[in-house]
Amino acid sequence: MRIRTETVEDYRQVYDLNVVAFGNREDESRLVERIRKSEGFIPELSIVAIQGEGESEAVIGHVLLSKASVIDGDTEHPVIVLAPVAVHPHAQGQGVGKALIKEALRRCRELDYGLVLLIGHPGYYPKLGFKSARPYGLELKQFEVPNDVFMVHEIIEGRLATVKGELRYPAAFLE
Ligand SMILES: CC(C)(COP(=O)(O)OP(=O)(O)OC[C@H]1O[C@@H](n2cnc3c(N)ncnc32)[C@H](O)[C@@H]1OP(=O)(O)O)[C@@H](O)C(=O)NCCC(=O)NCCS
Repeated sequence: MRIRTETVEDYRQVYDLNVVAFGNREDESRLVERIRKSEGFIPELSIVAIQGEGESEAVIGHVLLSKASVIDGDTEHPVIVLAPVAVHPHAQGQGVGKALIKEALRRCRELDYGLVLLIGHPGYYPKLGFKSARPYGLELKQFEVPNDVFMVHEIIEGRLATVKGELRYPAAFLE
């Protein structure tokens, strides 16, 4: 298994992967398409896991992180949101998701993004360093979710202490 930045040639396979990983729904595949077309898209943060070589290359995993903001009065803090992540059902439970997310977080640090936020499964993301966001003064009003599914990862030490306010997902997430 190799991990690399997604290319335009991967788009079809990434679409199909998200459909099959999310139980034959197209919602996440369409979300990926909307994010790619939006201002918040960061090409280096659309990452695929690949099996095979050359003609038989297959995308078995994908993670997408993009720009969002935390609003604190007149201040807008740039942050990153992680969504969606998908691993092909045949390849799940073998560390592919973990490897993709770890690489994504490493790239965020390189790009100087200090905080990554998400709405996700509380049994999964804490293993990767995410923790409940609301106790740190981060709010979420666009989606009504329990405290333990709204999570943050402090990529650069000290950022959690300086960024407070409401996470706003861009329009691509609200359709
Ligand atoms: C969620 C998903 C991306 C995880 O990818 P994966 O490659 O199967 O996960 P990994 O093998 O990297 O698992 C990493 C750890 O999380 C655990 N884990 C995996 N899926 C889990 C789940 N649904 N709930 C709780 N823990 C989970 C694994 O046991 C492993 O634990 P360990 O490090 O202690 O061994 C993948 O299962 C998937 O595509 N699911 C369907 C789509 C989906 O739900 N996406 C996420 C929306 S929040």
